[in-house]
Amino acid sequence: MTTISPKSPVGINGIGRIGKLMAWLMSTKEELEAIVISTGRKSGKSLDDLATYLGYDSTYGPYARFISGFGREKAIEINNDTLYLNGKKLVWLNDQEYRVPGSIPWSKHGVELVFDTTGKMTDPTKNEDNSLRGHLHNAKKVVLTAPFKIKNKGAMMPEDAVTVVGGVNFDRYDPAAHTIISNASCTTNCCAPPIKALVDHFGDKFISYALTTVHAATNSQQVLDVLPKDGEKDCRKTRSIINNIIPSTTGAANAVIEVIPEIRTLGIGSQASSLRVPTNTASIVILDISLIGEYDNDYMHSIFSKYSERNPEIMRFSDKQLVSSDIIGSTHSTIYDALFTHRRTTKRDGQLYTMVDLNFWYDNEFGYVCSLDRLYNLIIGKR
Ligand SMILES: NC(=O)c1ccc[n+]([C@@H]2O[C@H](COP(=O)([O-])OP(=O)(O)OC[C@H]3O[C@@H](n4cnc5c(N)ncnc54)[C@H](OP(=O)(O)O)[C@@H]3O)[C@@H](O)[C@H]2O)c1
Repeated sequence: MTTISPKSPVGINGIGRIGKLMAWLMSTKEELEAIVISTGRKSGKSLDDLATYLGYDSTYGPYARFISGFGREKAIEINNDTLYLNGKKLVWLNDQEYRVPGSIPWSKHGVELVFDTTGKMTDPTKNEDNSLRGHLHNAKKVVLTAPFKIKNKGAMMPEDAVTVVGGVNFDRYDPAAHTIISNASCTTNCCAPPIKALVDHFGDKFISYALTTVHAATNSQQVLDVLPKDGEKDCRKTRSIINNIIPSTTGAANAVIEVIPEIRTLGIGSQASSLRVPTNTASIVILDISLIGEYDNDYMHSIFSKYSERNPEIMRFSDKQLVSSDIIGSTHSTIYDALFTHRRTTKRDGQLYTMVDLNFWYDNEFGYVCSLDRLYNLIIGKR
């Protein structure tokens, strides 16, 4: 059994949107001794510039407000060339050689568990220094903040790797067996819980679903149009996000099946697509489902009302007329927008069929980081 001590400093590789917010959240943990971040490069002119980067956020406002409302100014401090977030020591690894996970001296700083938030290393089958598995040279476990992508189509998922989503399949995590853990994507964390509730409720009466995420911009987008790279497959990715709704892809369809294998065994059809829109965070999954039988809106509400009562941290049931900015800062993986549900029943060869349009909000940044926190608690044995 590989256990992770709740006191051991947590490692964060990459401090972009997800890594930075993860550092914010980890700084609230009383028992944690320190946070160790690795950027594999220096930033700005001095430690002060890193403090400014961590101390302010264009989406969530100042770190001090996140920690304790408007009352406190010194939530982030530099003492003896060391940065402290909320009094928690932040160790910054910035040597160029640390761009390669296998070279990062995590254990030297007491780190047992690493969150890789770079998005650059997603293949659990690779066994090189410069891969996700490279972290395991000097740490006990690594969490990927994205879905696994196995490049070699014939390769099997290694036995020590697992994808888990809170509210769906946390019971699959085996502390003795699993050292490489994917928390799937923000979109999967939003749509897998309601799909699981539907699969459990309807079984083989659930014919198919199609989901579209209307997703906020991320740093994978361009501010203005750029020339596509040599061999670029998706040239829409090179278009300006401040001027466009950009059709894109999502790995959610595959990831949902991975965490809910009954979808395959029951033969439920599925599809997923994505539209990127010019907002800084907060997204919505439009989930269209086809069912055998007749069901009204109240019937659908009762499924999600019960699910959210059983899983209060994962799903919020909303009967308010929300828009995307109302979601910013949400800690839930998914928010059911009950007022936006609509359905129609038809009859064919004497059989009734109902098509329902369901909608689920999520803060793709902070909401996702809170799902990582739930996974962290699972791994350190706090749930
Ligand atoms: N943003 C979201 O809504 C969201 C939600 C859920 C999951 N995710 C996933 O989380 C991952 C990160 O997303 P993000 O939005 O945080 O991206 P991001 O803002 O681009 O951050 C990625 C960070 O990783 C750093 N990095 C890249 N290679 C590195 C290396 N070898 N060593 C150390 N640092 C390295 C980058 O810094 P440099 O400038 O130094 O390269 C950058 O700061 C992606 O896999 C994404 O799919 C994102």
